[in-house]
Amino acid sequence: MATLTHPAFRTLVDEYGGCDLYFSEMISAEAFLGGTPFEYAYRDAHPDPQRLVYQLVGRSAEAIIEAARRLAEEPVCGIDVNMGCSAPQIAKRGAGVTWMQHREAAARLIERLRAVAPGKAVSAKFRLGSGENPDDLVEFARALEAAGASFLTLHPRFRRQTYSRPARWSYVGRLREALSIPLYGSGDISDAASVRARVEESGVEGVMIGRAAAQKPWIFAEIRAERAAGDGTAGGDDTPAARATTVSGPGVADGAVDLAVVAERFHELLETMLPEAFFVTRSRRFYAYFLKNLAFGHRLAAQVQHLESYEEIRGRVASYFAEHPEHRALPLGPRRSPAEFHSEPERRKRPVHA
Ligand SMILES: Cc1cc2nc3c(=O)[nH]c(=O)nc-3n(C[C@H](O)[C@H](O)[C@H](O)COP(=O)(O)O)c2cc1C
Repeated sequence: MATLTHPAFRTLVDEYGGCDLYFSEMISAEAFLGGTPFEYAYRDAHPDPQRLVYQLVGRSAEAIIEAARRLAEEPVCGIDVNMGCSAPQIAKRGAGVTWMQHREAAARLIERLRAVAPGKAVSAKFRLGSGENPDDLVEFARALEAAGASFLTLHPRFRRQTYSRPARWSYVGRLREALSIPLYGSGDISDAASVRARVEESGVEGVMIGRAAAQKPWIFAEIRAERAAGDGTAGGDDTPAARATTVSGPGVADGAVDLAVVAERFHELLETMLPEAFFVTRSRRFYAYFLKNLAFGHRLAAQVQHLESYEEIRGRVASYFAEHPEHRALPLGPRRSPAEFHSEPERRKRPVHA
């Protein structure tokens, strides 16, 4: 995800045990070839190259192919093409979701990527398209499959649909039936229950977690712990205590996560792994989601979005937690919202058990 899934953030996720597959921030093929001074940051395959897929976005097939050829020198798992981004600055210049209007060209691109990235997974991520003809989506995906795509990811929202309405997972199920290669679904996954429900309903091979991972970089560990508890492989004890024993990483103790510690760790990794020019954009974007963990985080989040310097952003968040130590602990597990948690003062002092 743009400005979110950089090496520092992925490393933070990994410190909680990681996830099956990481996707890089989208990398503009044209900018990459133009010689960005930050190439090293985009190339950096931390924390686990073999579980990293680079995502390229671009308008020109030639540029995407050449960028993929260079990136495929790294020992990463795959190359993905962004065929779903509908942000005006991307779609208007013929990149992202615009590829969905050019099925044959998109398929040829996948075919050529296979040739320049031998041994790598080649994939694409897309949306539902314009929605004018429901068959278009299936035909588009089938063309990519026939061209040799290793897997596909569908974010089931229409081109012009914002995030305010739920993702339309019924389309994921329909597309799943039409394909032979693995299909992943992306949209509104926030906990183990939503993973289970969406996988059961659609039959997909996997789900992608976006915003909820930025909010809770430990979410994958939490989901694994909940599933293990539910499966009985963790003794069938689906309690915060059971979850706490299986979720570990920065700030995790006594069935809760210390948000101040996570924020500090985010900054440490950011400063170690990314160029200084990225600090403000990456911190602002991270906090837009991470501060949703606070019952009244929107005020702080709004302040952070307006702070101009990195030092101010880091300092503002640190001083918030220093002023409100009672807001630092967030219970593990989805059962209690932060609002519920923080509105019960007597519970703040001890680990919360749902
Ligand atoms: C801030 C932001 C940046 C995103 N950047 C990308 C991107 O670079 N590439 C991509 O394929 N999708 C991108 N997406 C879409 C997400 O990958 C995902 O499909 C969408 O947010 C729905 O999933 P979620 O509900 O888990 O967030 C982005 C979404 C957001 C909110």
